Amino acid sequence: MSAYADAYSRSMADPQSFWLEAAEAIDWYEKPGRALDDSEAPFFNWFPDGVLNTCYNALDRHVAQGNGDRLALVWESAMANRAERYTYADLLDLVSRFAGALRNLGVGRGDRVLIYMPMVPEAAIAMLACARLGAIHSVVFGGFAAPELASRIDDAEPTVIVAASCGLEPGRVVEYTPIIRAALEKTRHRPDSTIILQRKQSMSELGEGEFDWDAVISAAEPVECEPVMSTDPLYILYTSGTTGKPKGVVRDNGGHAVALAWSLTNVYNVQPGETMWAASDVGWQVGHTYTVYGPLICGATTVMFEGKPVGTPDAGAFWRIIEKHKVKVLLTAPTAIRAIKRVDPDGKCLAGHDISSLETLFLAGERLDPDTYSWAGNMLGVPVVDHWWQTETGWPACANLRGLEPMALKPGSPSVPVPGFDIRVLSSDGNPVQTGTEGMLCIKLPQPPGMLSTLWKDKERYREAYLSRFDGYYLTGDSGLIDEDGYVFVLGRTDDVINVAGHRLSTGVLEAVLAAHPAVAECAVIGVPDALKGQVARGFVVLKSGAGIAEDTLRQEIIASVRAEVGPVAAFRELYVVDGLPKTRSGKILRRSMRAIAEGRDEALPATIENPEIFTSLSPILQGSHTNH
Ligand code: COA
Ligand code: AMP
Repeated sequence: MSAYADAYSRSMADPQSFWLEAAEAIDWYEKPGRALDDSEAPFFNWFPDGVLNTCYNALDRHVAQGNGDRLALVWESAMANRAERYTYADLLDLVSRFAGALRNLGVGRGDRVLIYMPMVPEAAIAMLACARLGAIHSVVFGGFAAPELASRIDDAEPTVIVAASCGLEPGRVVEYTPIIRAALEKTRHRPDSTIILQRKQSMSELGEGEFDWDAVISAAEPVECEPVMSTDPLYILYTSGTTGKPKGVVRDNGGHAVALAWSLTNVYNVQPGETMWAASDVGWQVGHTYTVYGPLICGATTVMFEGKPVGTPDAGAFWRIIEKHKVKVLLTAPTAIRAIKRVDPDGKCLAGHDISSLETLFLAGERLDPDTYSWAGNMLGVPVVDHWWQTETGWPACANLRGLEPMALKPGSPSVPVPGFDIRVLSSDGNPVQTGTEGMLCIKLPQPPGMLSTLWKDKERYREAYLSRFDGYYLTGDSGLIDEDGYVFVLGRTDDVINVAGHRLSTGVLEAVLAAHPAVAECAVIGVPDALKGQVARGFVVLKSGAGIAEDTLRQEIIASVRAEVGPVAAFRELYVVDGLPKTRSGKILRRSMRAIAEGRDEALPATIENPEIFTSLSPILQGSHTNH
């Protein structure tokens, strides 16, 4: 039996012993006596009697083992034109003192800390300091605007907010302090304090309850790790669902640590002392898992990059960093590679860089298109490994396990289910489909360690959103198929979640902004294919009668509102005024059929369509053969 087949079947047949064995990679204050607790099914807990500290596993133990001089984190800022290196001993010192600073401001076990920072080492330091205290962090991506930040503050109810004075985007400085203050004008909840890392590109004048990062850290004593239960939350990460309210994905401490340690060696083939670079913002799942926690738990070196794949200053930024830090594994989104390919199709910026340290390019976050797959493979001369996961799964559900047993790669497929993930394809009535047939991708419960345990303060929404559709299964929201060799193909979302440049967004949130415009009677937003970003949002509005607004003016106003309400990350640019929206006789807008046309799929219109002529008139816009910008 192959190593993969053996591991996979053991994880299915006897998850208790499989995961207890994996748990040996973690240092526990109290070793778990059992792996899976299914006493509250369909809610599952991992290592229920285990006691640990995630920060201890990420930092202290490596220093205690004599590896304090090993590089833990390197920071490359193309925006600030700076680079910094932190050994494990450096990071431990900073993290334990920042944990002291948080404790001085009243943060203790179970309290929440909201982190709103750009890609600076202090973001990782703040996350690890929370873990050290047993506090729960919630990192919010810097590209979200004040109202999105406000809804996360009200849901997480943080004791402290940790922020930077600004982020650096090409051509502009994003001032964070005014965004935080604007968010706090809107919230019910008020944190006790805000800590601000002053960056020289734009310093903030501090007001009441606002403290300077350097001042609080120099006044603090280092603190030791707080032992927590395996099942205690490590963090909440908000992600887009189908409604306007973001979902607070809760990750535990123990299952997360075990899953990450297992994946570093078995999926990524990264060993202690080697360098892994997950080029993702810390505000997203990949940034949490493989920019911060995964490599550190394993004793490897991680890279944090503040910049873009292109334009900061050129399309060679990735290759330069790989060469400089001898990166073994690069993990990024296909959109980043498409951006490089577009600017430098012949790889001129790659020439002259020694990237021989690179063993594998891993891609995730959105569909990997065949052109990007083959271009990256030809240019870099290394395997390009697609793998599939979600904020909810927390780590890859399907992958080619390069450390366990590299398998043949099939373009278009993220390969096979990772041990622990029992992936099934179900038809809409909940029956298994035949091999090779498309259906809904589901994970048969129990889910493996590291996957979300619930939604923050909303067990019912967790059940409703993920577990209620098919009894005994977690619904991923993706459609796909499994072929005769057991390879999974992910074909796209079945709901209203879209993926713009690897950033997950809800069309419902965008529709709410369009609908709030006084001239708009009704609207729909769908994701349409885009050559660079994978998908972009396209909006359709029907005006109120007598609205009397020029289409261009309306477009500009709505684009500005989306930027102010949701954030620049929505990258919303496309808006069309139309005579009507296609609907069923019961008044439901046919977004799914609109999406099918936009994606060039042949899909029969529902028999219940009320106004087929409207649908026909919209087709050229949906197909992109009509532009307004
Ligand atoms: N803070 C503030 N604004 C931000 C931001 C942040 N952290 N991140 C992005 N933005 C802004 C951008 O400046 C841009 O603003 P603009 O409209 O004024 O130009 C807007 O949000 C849209 O950003 P984006 O869609 O990222 O476009 P881009 O042109 O800046 O970059 C890519 C395009 C493809 C290079 C970039 O999106 C990328 O590298 N994506 C990879 C994503 C990724 O790693 N995802 C994680 C999964 S692995
Ligand atoms: P996020 O929660 O932001 O990680 O987004 C998760 C979604 O991104 C998934 O539900 C998929 O729709 C999509 N996705 C992630 N990885 C892949 C992949 N390798 N192939 C296709 N889609 C992917």
